[in-house]
Order: sequence, then C-alpha cells, then structure tokens
Amino acid sequence: MSDKGASKRRLRSQDWFDNPDHIDMTALYLERFMNYGITPEELRSGKPIIGIAQSGSDLTPCNRHHLDLAKRVRDGIRDAGGIPIEFPTHPIFENCKRPTAALDRNLAYLGLVEVLYGYPLDGVVLTTGCDKTTPSALMAASTVNIPAIVLSGGPMLDGWHEGELAGSGTVIWRSRRKLAAGEIDEEEFMEASLASAPSIGHCNTMGTASTMNAMAEALGMSLTGCAAIPGAYRERGQMAYRTGRRAVELVLEDIKPSDVLTREAFLNAIRVNSAIGGSTNAQPHLAAMAKHAGVELYPDDWQVHGFDIPLLANVQPAGAYLGERFHRAGGVPAVMWELLQVGKLDGSCPTVTGRTMADNLKGREATDREVIRPFADPLKERAGFLVLKGNLFDFAIMKMSVVSEEFRGRYLQEPGHEGVFQGRAVVFDGSEDYHKRINHPDLGIDEKTILVIRGAGPIGWPGSAEVVNMQPPDALLKRGIRSLPTIGDGRQSGTADSPSILNASPESAAGGGLAWLRTGDIIRIDFNQGRCDMLVEEAEIARRKGDGIPPVPPDATPWQRIYRRSVTQLSDGAVLDGAADFRDIAANPPRH
Ligand code: FES
Ligand code: MG
Repeated sequence: MSDKGASKRRLRSQDWFDNPDHIDMTALYLERFMNYGITPEELRSGKPIIGIAQSGSDLTPCNRHHLDLAKRVRDGIRDAGGIPIEFPTHPIFENCKRPTAALDRNLAYLGLVEVLYGYPLDGVVLTTGCDKTTPSALMAASTVNIPAIVLSGGPMLDGWHEGELAGSGTVIWRSRRKLAAGEIDEEEFMEASLASAPSIGHCNTMGTASTMNAMAEALGMSLTGCAAIPGAYRERGQMAYRTGRRAVELVLEDIKPSDVLTREAFLNAIRVNSAIGGSTNAQPHLAAMAKHAGVELYPDDWQVHGFDIPLLANVQPAGAYLGERFHRAGGVPAVMWELLQVGKLDGSCPTVTGRTMADNLKGREATDREVIRPFADPLKERAGFLVLKGNLFDFAIMKMSVVSEEFRGRYLQEPGHEGVFQGRAVVFDGSEDYHKRINHPDLGIDEKTILVIRGAGPIGWPGSAEVVNMQPPDALLKRGIRSLPTIGDGRQSGTADSPSILNASPESAAGGGLAWLRTGDIIRIDFNQGRCDMLVEEAEIARRKGDGIPPVPPDATPWQRIYRRSVTQLSDGAVLDGAADFRDIAANPPRH
C-alpha cells in the first residue's frame, strides 16, 4: 500500500474549481456543470473527481455495455467519496473501421491525452474492450500520468454452432477455408460466423481484445481477475463497482501509472502473452505503451523473455475453448499463478490494487486443468513469438503457438532441412491485388510457395492492416493444403491461426527490403537462426532500388496525412514520432 497518500493533499481539480487567485475563471468552470444538477458544493468539496473514459457506443458494439457498467462504476466512485464525470472517447470498432481500426489507435490516444490533461480530473477509469481501446487508453494515461485503472468490458458468452464452439474471428478464418474448398455454402458460412456473437462483450477468443485486456491485468493496471469475466456475467457489474471504488483510493494514495508500468511489468506481460497464446498485435501495442510509459522495451525482448514460455491456456485460436471456460478455470490470474510458481513472473511488481502482483495472485490456482494447464504439462512448448531478421526486414515476428503440427511436419522437420525452409516468393501489393490474382494459375503456387504481401504497414496501408494471414489458392485448399508460409509488412488478426511472418519492419513503403522483392525470388527462412532472407545478389537489389518503392494509395483524410508523416514502424509500436517526449504532463497544470 502506498504511503504517499494523504486525503488532505490538494487535488489537481481544485486548481479549476477552488482557486482563489482566479475566482472569475472558477465561476466559469463551475457554472455549466450546474445544468445537469451537480452542485458547486460537490465540485468544490475537495473530493477526487474521477473521469470515466467511456469507450462504448453504438459504433463500438464490443464495448457498448460499458454504457450500463458505468452506472456501477459511478456507484463505486460515490461510495468511496469521489465525484464521477463520464465522457466519450473516440470510437474504435476493430472489424468495421476502414481502412483499418489501427489508424485510429493513435487518434484515440491523442484525444484522451487532451481530455485527461485539459479538464479537472484527478483520476480516471479506463473502460476497455475491443482491440485498440485498451492500448490507446493506457498510452494516454501514461502520458498524462494521473491515477488510472482499467475496467475491461469482458468477452461475449461462448458461441455455439451445430454443437461446436464458434469463436469470434477464428470461426470465420476456418469457415472461409471450408467455403473455398467447397465443403460448405455461403449460407452455412454466414450462419457459423454469426453464431460466434451470442451476447454483449468483445471477441470471445484469445484475439487481440481478450489479449490486450489480459495485458492490462498482467501489467498490474486492473483489479485482479478483471480481464476474463464475460460481459454478461454478474461479476462484471461487481467488478465495475469495485473498480470505481478503487479509482478514488488510487487518487487518495497517489498511485499513478508510472508507479505500475515498469520494465518488469512489461516483461511479465510478454510472458503472459505467450502462456495465453495471445495475439501478435500485443507486440506493437505493448511497444507503444512502453514508449509512452518511458520504459525501454526492445524488439528482442519478445524472443529473450517470451519465446520459451509454454502455452498454458487452452483457448482459441491456439487452443480449443472460449472466454467463459477460461474465466471459470481461473482466467488471467490462474495463468500468472503458474508462471509465478516456476519463477517466470516478477511477483514484486506493484499494481493498482496497492499490493504486489504476488499478493494479488495468492490462492488463484486454476480450477479446471483442461483449460489452464500446469506449467509442467503445457499444450505446447516454446509458444512465444519467434523474432526474425534478415535482408527483407530488421524485425518481424511469428506466433509459434498457432503453428500446426501439419505445418511443422511439412516444412520444419524434413530430413536434412530441420528448421530451414526455402520457397519461391509470390508477391502481392496490397490485399486488392491478392484477391484479384491469388487463384490465377499462372502464378504457379504450390506447397513450396511463400505468399508475400506488402504495402500493408503503418505508412503503406495506412495504419497497418490485418491482411498477412492470406489463405492458399482454392486449388491447394481442395487438395488439403490449408496454409502456406506468408510474410508481410502488415499484421494479422489476433484470432487467426495462420503460420505467418508478420509486422515486418521497416515496411515496404518506408523502403524496407520487401520493396525490392520480386515474384520468383527464392526466400530462405532459418527458424533456428531467426533469419529470413531473399537470395538475391546485392547488385541486383541495388538495381531494383532504381525502380522506386511500390506505390501506395494517396491520403484520403487529413488524419491519414498527419499519421503517415509522423508514425514509426511496427517494431517501435507505430507511435507518433515525438509523442513519447511528453511524459507526466499532469505534473504541471495547464494554463488558464
Ligand atoms: Fe471488437 Fe473483436 S471486433 S473485440
Ligand atoms: Mg483485429
């Protein structure tokens, strides 16, 4: 428990509402809050004013029930002696925002920074759910550095279709392979896909939403057990109440994001991500959060700290089950408990509970070993991200927990070729090009082909798109070849189960090696050495540079232009260049 706190400390909000030097401004700040019935006495009481950063709306259906949960948050804030003030954040709906929701993460970040900095808030409850709503909120809370706590909305209930679990996203990637192979028709495809969304909540697989909420908990930024409670469960409302209460205490105890978001906390998050079979999107998002928290996190940390961690959570897409079973088995704390027992977790990390992570995890052993496996008997060994580099890129990752036995057998265990794969590249410029040409017989795609997509990174797309999980042409699918190695400077959906080399940085549009690759080139991937190279002479690469960088679409909106001019690469979190210069900004109140 922090001893920094003294409830008599003058709070930040009092600079607005109780400032004798600026009585005229104070009157102006106060008067318009009256019009919904709040009283000047409340605002001038010196009680903590707690923002509720509302991410739910009709446009962000994954987070929409936060509109209801906020009532319980308010109750908690009031009962603990605070004043709630709810406000909207920029909507981000992963599956619907074009050209990609990733473009909006930094925009939501910027918006939230301005709100938290420029308004009389002493602390904030960050309501999270859909993929980017979690990292954008934590990035902003770090920058401003006022006491903050994450309230996840929780996943949807488990989806079912014809007696089988239907998981968000994953059912779509799997069904579209069946559709292409002619095993199901379009109506069956649609039915299976829609069955995966039976209730309020975010994606019920271990996609990016569940992953990022788990990351928030692993970092110590939410109450224990918060991430995995399904949105529709009673515990979710109870968690909302407790989170509201705790937000007030955080202000009184003066526990800020900078007290929690240490390098050790981020390394814990990387390890937990491996153990839950988490999304590859955790890589850029954790990098971005670390950047804004002022923490050094290196691209190789994924390999050094995460790669050897086994897969413990039996949740789709890496495993079999969905959010409800995961929660009932113990959720994120039970996974962390396993890691703690074997010394793979730093239990000394402080958290928003006011206790250490080890304290939080006491008594949190899993209750269902089918769903959360013991460390000694995992679903898969070495389930983290493999980090690759070479002349095609300086950094890319591959999610080993979804590399199937079929794929391992076909590519990684051939006698004399263990861990090395050589294949002929077929290159696509963006996803329209892929869809137009993938089934063209002239491409000569066979089981020794590597599918490459470029122009899909932060600058190229713009925003970096989830398009690297390209499926093989229909002819190969019909022969039972359900995946080919793919490489791209974009991302892939956290719900995808494809063996892809992703997040290649620098991207083609920034002059990365992928820009100089041509269809027909041979690519050599050495999984043991962590190398991925095109076998093309230096002189030939130099000659191709004369052709220029493959073109990308023009800016379509003002934000796209600003974003493209200032965004860094996925290896660095695709943050706004220079935005990380702004740290702890609430320490100096804004001018009147
Ligand atoms: Fe919003 Fe998956 S689309 S959580
Ligand atoms: Mg996604």
